[in-house]
Amino acid sequence: MEAATRRALLLLLLVASSVPAGFCQTNVQDVSAIQSLMSEWTNYPSTWSWSGDPCSGNWDGIMCSNGRITSLRLSSVNLQGTLSDSIGQLTQLSFLDLSFNFDLGGPLPASIGNLVQLTTLIVAGCSFNGGIPKELGNLLKMSFLALNSNQFTGTIPSSLGLLSELFWLDLADNNLTGQVPISTTTTPGLDLLVNTKHFHFNKNQLSGTLTGLFNSKMTLIHILFDSNRFTGPIPPEIGNVSSLQVLRLDRNGLEGPVPNMTNLVSINELNLASNKLNGSLPDLSTMNVLNVVDLGNNQFNPSVAPDWFTTLTNLTSLSVSNGGLVGEVPAALFTLPQLQEVVLSKNRHNGTLDMSGSISKRLQSVDLSTNNIFEANVNPDYKKALVLIGNPACQDEKLKDGPYCITQEQNVITYRTSMDRCASANSCPSSQNQNPATCGCAYAYSGKMTFRAPFFKDLTDSDTFQELETSISTTLKLRAGSVYLYNVQFNNDSYLEVQMELFPTSGTVFNTSEVTFMGTLFSNQIFKPPAKFGPYFFIGDQYVPFIVDGGKNSKFSTGAIAGIAAGGGVLVIALILVALFALRQKRRNQELKVQANPFASWGTMQKDSGGAPQLKGARFFSFDELKACTENFSDSYEIGAGGYGKVYKGTLVDGIRVAIKRAQSGSMQGAPEFKNEIELLSRVHHRNLVSLIGFCFEQGEQMLVYEYVAGGTLRENLVVRGSYLDWKKRLRITLGSARGLAYLHELADPPIIHRDIKSTNILLDENLKAKVADFGLSKLLADTEKGHVSTQVKGTLGYLDPEYYMTQQLSEKSDVYSFGVVMLEMVSGRQPIEKGKYIVREVRQVLDPADRDYYGLRAIVDPAIRDAARTVGFRRYVQLAMQCVDESAAARPAMGTVVKEVEAMLLNEPDGDGANSAGSSATEFDGAGRGAPPHPYSDVEITGSSYAGGEGASDYMPYFEVKPK
Ligand SMILES: *[C@@H]1O[C@H](CO)[C@@H](O)[C@H](O)[C@H]1NC(C)=O
Ligand SMILES: *[C@@H]1O[C@H](CO)[C@@H](O)[C@H](O)[C@H]1NC(C)=O
Ligand SMILES: *[C@@H]1O[C@H](CO)[C@@H](O)[C@H](O)[C@H]1NC(C)=O
Ligand SMILES: *[C@@H]1O[C@H](CO)[C@@H](O)[C@H](O)[C@H]1NC(C)=O
Repeated sequence: MEAATRRALLLLLLVASSVPAGFCQTNVQDVSAIQSLMSEWTNYPSTWSWSGDPCSGNWDGIMCSNGRITSLRLSSVNLQGTLSDSIGQLTQLSFLDLSFNFDLGGPLPASIGNLVQLTTLIVAGCSFNGGIPKELGNLLKMSFLALNSNQFTGTIPSSLGLLSELFWLDLADNNLTGQVPISTTTTPGLDLLVNTKHFHFNKNQLSGTLTGLFNSKMTLIHILFDSNRFTGPIPPEIGNVSSLQVLRLDRNGLEGPVPNMTNLVSINELNLASNKLNGSLPDLSTMNVLNVVDLGNNQFNPSVAPDWFTTLTNLTSLSVSNGGLVGEVPAALFTLPQLQEVVLSKNRHNGTLDMSGSISKRLQSVDLSTNNIFEANVNPDYKKALVLIGNPACQDEKLKDGPYCITQEQNVITYRTSMDRCASANSCPSSQNQNPATCGCAYAYSGKMTFRAPFFKDLTDSDTFQELETSISTTLKLRAGSVYLYNVQFNNDSYLEVQMELFPTSGTVFNTSEVTFMGTLFSNQIFKPPAKFGPYFFIGDQYVPFIVDGGKNSKFSTGAIAGIAAGGGVLVIALILVALFALRQKRRNQELKVQANPFASWGTMQKDSGGAPQLKGARFFSFDELKACTENFSDSYEIGAGGYGKVYKGTLVDGIRVAIKRAQSGSMQGAPEFKNEIELLSRVHHRNLVSLIGFCFEQGEQMLVYEYVAGGTLRENLVVRGSYLDWKKRLRITLGSARGLAYLHELADPPIIHRDIKSTNILLDENLKAKVADFGLSKLLADTEKGHVSTQVKGTLGYLDPEYYMTQQLSEKSDVYSFGVVMLEMVSGRQPIEKGKYIVREVRQVLDPADRDYYGLRAIVDPAIRDAARTVGFRRYVQLAMQCVDESAAARPAMGTVVKEVEAMLLNEPDGDGANSAGSSATEFDGAGRGAPPHPYSDVEITGSSYAGGEGASDYMPYFEVKPK
């Protein structure tokens, strides 16, 4: 043997003998399976390594027993890629949680059917697609199966009926189709699942009848089948599933009478709304613990209010809109001690509304719009919402101009965790947030909790939500108070949504095992909210620190270093020192780079679904990409200009048309400010706001890429086609832009003051939908100083709030002033300052309430709407505009109030816009009268994918400000 070879062999032996026993602990089949999983993921926990030992105890998310992997907990670690077939080799696996990894997708491999020890499989909130593998039916120990919030298609495999141990079955929020499988003599079906407590199938496209699915052996407590396409009758056997607590069959096509439900005495929420049910209104008198009931929008026979309206003492919400009800509304209803919401709109209730007695202290809103009520006696102590619009009672002198017939100053400010104890406003570094417990900054683990059937409707009650905060911090072992809840709202599906941020107890970052721990507590329903919140699901956001560090450092993970160190002598140690030094240099370099370029961690973000959570929808564009789509920013693509630079139109390779705002050198911001602006803009999504599609920060350029809005500015439309803009169109435009602005003020988080509302910053799409643009100047309104912020005066002459100008105290009310000026532009068609005359002063001078025809404005009114100017609606509009331009900011209404006022005006306009708001603008009123009273922001869009606005339309109108000629 040659000396060299011998020496090498010796070294090898030396190395081999000094390998600790642990290195070989893991079964080879499991090691190769894990390596195969890693090879398909571009990101995995930094403690995982190619040379390490998965069962060594220091791999995040892996637990072993006797050298076999038994548990994989990888919730929220930002895995990217697909799930390898080799998962099927981990045959001792009993727990698999891959939840909240948005970039983990592709099909669920059939080999998963080999994991016969599996008791828990969770892939909620990933991007899996294709069919649900029928091989899941082999996993006879399965008790918890959560496939919700993916993109699964196809039918539910009948083999799932074999999972006799199944406790939790969540298939919600996918694209499943076809019938729910029912057993036959030869095939299994879900009717065999007698130990299952949860059937969550909502928000799919399931169809067919439910006949045969339910039987008295079942022990279900939650049946959530809402928002599917089920047809046929509600099967009578459902009345025998006496364990039921929540039954949601709403938003389907179910027909026929409601079967006998006398035995369902444990039901807390019953929602059968928006089907085609007929026969008599069901008798719910035995449902003693019923809290929330919605039977609206069916085809029930006319009937008087049933007795159970007044005997179910636990009712919190009664909704029977469009339910065929006649006769008087029973007075005793309003005395029910827990009652929070009543919706009996669109019925034929008549006679006198008697709310003169004692009224439930918790009652928040009563919607009786569009009935036949002649008279109303209301206890003066009742100060909450009551809507009587569309009743004869509103012709009564006494009520006509009162709050019930015109509008409500509802002032519904829903719960948000208080930051009052923190002295200074949130001024955290980007991507960090302020911890309400300590007021310090940290990377929060965040996500959205969705409660699918809460037993209450009052979103203002602090006790309710503080109880939730406490239960979260206790279960997750966080410091008391370090849970921040915000954006609390009911969505269009009657789910309660709550945004949540959780803060680490020490330091500014959670480590991987802490994040997976929290993720699993939610995904596996170990966390239980207070009972009144009902069934929930959670979808975690990507955790920012994992995006920054994740993939890049994993090659140099501490696991790998430990592995190598264990294997060697002095030489190896020396090598390691060198490697460590190199690593440190590399880290330092990376840190330096991160400091210099705050976008470093965003650079690779090419896909819509990727990137930091605060960048939903917005993507990175390269300079070359934008250069190409504007022919090197040629003049012929220029559509506007302003102090900041120029605006170009362009068409992206996928055909989407965009407006590109390119900053000129003088108006560039610092990189951190630019980044902040992008984060801010990309979080703001509303149909009445121009949305940000992306940005470019390259080659010394700062560009913002917006959706293209084809119809031009409101100013131009008033000039060029004023006569086309009849009164009702102007009302709609007012409403749309008011909604956009109200969203910025009241729902954006943090709230935003626009600071430059004017008719050239309101764009119209081809359907005249208004979209507020250019809130780039916007000033964030920090939580703790809600009220006003002092700042340098900015804005446009003619629209500028005089109080702001004098005091430099900026508040939302400054936007309200500018909006009032825009309303006067609608009335007059004029610019705010024309021929030295200021529209606000002029209107104030000539206004004449005694003039029944033109309200004194004959000379001012735009001739295109002169007929409308004789209506009551017009007077109310002018009054509202004048309130908005009141000298005193305090006297101006909030934008939410403006929205409600204008909504009411539109509702009172003749033909079309009445009760069912027909016509092309029907969606403007979507949600009104369906379950809940119309909410000023009922059409908030959460996603950022609605930027098709300008497609196919002519582009004769420029974008943003008109270029001065
Ligand atoms: C799911 O269904 C919706 C509505 O039919 C469709 O728009 C969407 O493209 C589907 N998604 C997938 C992934 O199939
Ligand atoms: C409903 O069923 C209960 C017993 O399960 C029975 O007592 C009652 O009479 C039934 N109601 C109707 C209307 O058939
Ligand atoms: C209402 O609910 C409470 C529990 O929240 C229960 O103790 C009470 O008995 C219920 N009322 C009726 C009439 O059953
Ligand atoms: C209210 O409606 C009921 C049923 O349609 C009818 O019998 C009754 O006379 C009406 N009451 C009044 C005061 O019009």
